Amino acid sequence: MPKKLRVGIIGAGNIATTAHLPAYQKLTDIVEVVAIADIVPERAKDAAEKFGIPSYFASVEELMANVDVDYIDICTWTAAHAPVCIAAAKAGKHILCEKPLAATLEQGLAMEKAVKEAGVQFMIAVVTRYGAQQIKFRELYEEGVFGEIYAAKTMYVRRRGTPQGWFTDKEMAGGGPVLDIGVHAIDRTWYLMDRPKPVSVSAETSYRIGDFKTKGIERWKPFDMGKGVFDTEDSATVFFRFEGGKTMMAEIAWAINGPQIATTQLFGSKAGCTFDPLTIYGEDEEGYLSDTTPEITPNNHFEEEIRHFVECLNEGKTPISPMEDAVTVQRMLDGIYRSAAEHKEVTI
Ligand SMILES: NC(=O)c1ccc[n+]([C@@H]2O[C@H](COP(=O)([O-])OP(=O)(O)OC[C@H]3O[C@@H](n4cnc5c(N)ncnc54)[C@H](O)[C@@H]3O)[C@@H](O)[C@H]2O)c1
Repeated sequence: MPKKLRVGIIGAGNIATTAHLPAYQKLTDIVEVVAIADIVPERAKDAAEKFGIPSYFASVEELMANVDVDYIDICTWTAAHAPVCIAAAKAGKHILCEKPLAATLEQGLAMEKAVKEAGVQFMIAVVTRYGAQQIKFRELYEEGVFGEIYAAKTMYVRRRGTPQGWFTDKEMAGGGPVLDIGVHAIDRTWYLMDRPKPVSVSAETSYRIGDFKTKGIERWKPFDMGKGVFDTEDSATVFFRFEGGKTMMAEIAWAINGPQIATTQLFGSKAGCTFDPLTIYGEDEEGYLSDTTPEITPNNHFEEEIRHFVECLNEGKTPISPMEDAVTVQRMLDGIYRSAAEHKEVTI
């Protein structure tokens, strides 16, 4: 019977209380939330009361000084990922960290250094890698169904879906939709392409729609409403080149005057696919074109992600979303901003 792990959550905001804590409530046989911390202590107190967490604190340092935990689950705003991660690594704690890795590549590299020096495990919580369709795709890919995936297109485009609060403040978030939702689309697509080595990127970012006043729409509302700053991009158009002539096109928007669309298309030498539902475009045994939709039981992505990390810690395995991948994706995202600033293709 593997040991039941003890976790401390840092940041008692929206993602912690609507996704991570409900997932932990379903995983009480393998992991226990023993403490929570937030720089706004009332938020930590409220979450502790609501979810029956035994103790709450005002910082990661205070939490680690008072409670024995196996790992720290980072759910703070993005610019706080680095200091919290570095403090946890220095204290010898393993780390699960919400996406994106960091607000800047420099912060991401400092996190990688601290994690390596401490010899702790780190997993980036890129939740869409843990969806049932993505898991099924990987199984079929390993069986050779798709051959070599050499090109991909991904779109994560919201018509009016800009999150509120700190998300639009570059200092706290690091960037706009590229870091917030682009990271999901780009990370997942790159992972499903079997992580080809990035070579270069050509991108443009747009700042044209910004702080719109459109009525009757739903937006992600973080607990922290920030300082009312809006200095991030609102959309981006991206083209990546990878080693071996492989490519990825990405269209990312928080706000655009066009249809809302979320899609990923993968093109392989033997077959290709789209998602929602997973549909495989290939040929049947007689050589005719065939579209097939395997039966897939849906899962809770957050539960799957946390279960995977706990299993990796218990078995000493490397997670499927390790630090190495988080840093490569952060380099790709950083390349988007550099390319857009220079209006030309840049190396990654
Ligand atoms: N996986 C997903 O689909 C998904 C969805 C939304 C948000 N997120 C990520 O989750 C993270 C949090 O987003 P949110 O919407 O919950 O924001 P939020 O504002 O609701 O919560 C963040 C909390 O972190 C606290 N905090 C900030 N710095 C801290 C520090 N140093 N120590 C302790 N607490 C600190 C804030 O006081 C706040 O309560 C972000 O990284 C975001 O990108 C992921």
